[in-house]
Parts: sequence; C-alpha cells; structure tokens
Amino acid sequence: MSTTNRSLVDRTWSKVTESQVWRSIFRHGYPDTPLNQSLVMMGNVFLHLHPVKVSRKAMKITYTWCLGGLSFFLFLVLTITGVFLMFYFVPDQTIAYANIQQIQSAVAFGNLVRNMHRWAAHLMVVTVTLHMIRVFYHGAYKPPREFNWVIGVALFLTTLLLSFTGYLLPWDQIGYWAITVGSNMASYAPIFGTAAHNFLTGQPVGVGQPTLIRFYTLHVIGLPLAAAILMAVHFWRIRKDGGEAGPPPPSRREIEQARARQAAEREPVASLS
Ligand code: HEM
Repeated sequence: MSTTNRSLVDRTWSKVTESQVWRSIFRHGYPDTPLNQSLVMMGNVFLHLHPVKVSRKAMKITYTWCLGGLSFFLFLVLTITGVFLMFYFVPDQTIAYANIQQIQSAVAFGNLVRNMHRWAAHLMVVTVTLHMIRVFYHGAYKPPREFNWVIGVALFLTTLLLSFTGYLLPWDQIGYWAITVGSNMASYAPIFGTAAHNFLTGQPVGVGQPTLIRFYTLHVIGLPLAAAILMAVHFWRIRKDGGEAGPPPPSRREIEQARARQAAEREPVASLS
C-alpha cells in the first residue's frame, strides 16, 4: 500500500473511532492495560457476562468437560421441543395418552421432537449429576463459591422435579404407577406426610385429573421459570466469583522437584572413559 493510501486509511480509521457514534458504543480504548481490560469487560453488554480474568488451566475443556454448559444446552433443547409439544398436548386424562400417540404418528416431525424431548430430559439428569460430581471433585464448592453450590443444589432438585412431573404427562401405565408410588412414598414423611401427598396429587386418594393438571402446570411454567431464574443467578455468580476455580497452584515440593529435574537435564553427561 502506498504512503498516501495508508495515511488515508489511518485518517478515516481515526475519524470513525473518534466519532460520537463510535465512542458512545465503545467507551474504552484497546484493552492493553489491566485497567483498560477491566473497563472494556464491564462496559460491554456481551463481554460483561465473562469475568475479567480467568485461569488459563480452568479454561481447558478437559478440566470441566463443559458439563455445566452441556446441561444448559440441554435445557434450551428441552424448552424449544417442549413448546412444540405444547401445541398438541392437552392435559386431560381422557385424551392425554391418545394425544401423545397422535404427536408420534400424525404430526409432522412429531416423533422426532418427542424423542428429542425425552432423550434430552434423561441426558440432562445425567449431565447435571456429573457436573455436580466434577464441581465437588475440584473442591469448587469452597469459598468464595459456596453460595453458587447452594444455587446448584436448588438447580439439581429443580431438574429432578422437572423429570418427575414430565413422567406423568403421557398418562401411560409406567408414568401413572411411578407417580402413584412416588406420591404414596411422600405420605410416609413424618408430620407433613398427608399434606405432602395431597400437595402432589391434588386429591386424597390416588392419581387423577387434579394430579395431571398440577403436574402439567408445574412442568411447563413453574419449574422451568424457577430453573431459568436460578440459572441466571448461577451464571452471574460464576462471573462474580472470578470464573471457574482453576487447578490449585503447584506445591513448594513440586516446584523444587521440577527445578531439580531441570538442573539435572542441564548438567553435562559424564564421560565414559
Ligand atoms: C441445570 C443445572 C446446571 C447448569 C445449567 C449449570 C451450569 C454451569 C456452568 C455453565 C458452569 C461453568 C463451568 C462448567 O461448565 O462446568 C457452572 C459452574 C458451576 N456450577 Fe453449575 N450448573 C448446573 C447445576 C449445578 C449443580 C447441581 C451444582 C452443585 C450442586 C452446581 C455448582 C456449580 C459451581 C460451584 C460452579 C463453579 C465451578 C468452578 O468454579 O469450577 N451447578 N455451572
């Protein structure tokens, strides 16, 4: 590029970056100092979701297996496929079973979407459990992340409840009897047993229409809303706690051993003669 062209590009570039429009969107210069890096992260709607600094090792996929990310992805898949199913499913005990059969046989892509919803639900229970184990194994429940661990426990329970409430909706034998057993188990709880049973089933004996509508409302509105709010707090907390907890720094002994190894490698090989 000739000198004249370059200076033209430079002048245009500085005109753009110094314009009021540009400066109203990008309020800070190039993030080349720690202060500017923080300001850029805080002042941008997309970047502010991330912490200013993250440990390089904690970013490795082999450290988290992205299990939290996978759980979130599955939650999105479940929400989208769930909305699709809501267009056809009617929570009425006389037609719910037939509804599901129709979704699978008569609705375009119905079988695919229903199976995606079912598989994603099973997988989410697996990924959330593995994510919890990973967090525990890495000691990421310790301060300052103890509050996020508590939010995580609430998310775990919400995931299990979503799975439990969804199980009844097809109104098939396995779902019907599973919820019958589950709600009967609740009635054995001390003091609140009967109240817990009636809260679940909506009637004093057995599982019926009041149970179905109750489980449906919780499954499509109450629990997903609770999960979404908890996830927002969970992600916000991850950012405030400085991103994922990285592996612990090497101990003094490990550092000394590494130094000794390096020194030994540098030493000349003794002559054999
Ligand atoms: C719907 C369920 C959940 C979702 C969507 C979710 C999402 C996430 C994501 C995306 C991360 C970032 C790191 C990663 O991907 O592993 C994370 C970190 C974390 N999660 Fe979860 N999570 C869920 C459930 C849980 C549960 C059940 C617990 C524990 C009881 C938990 C506790 C934590 C903690 C303490 C961190 C910070 C980990 C660290 O600093 O290394 N989460 N979560």
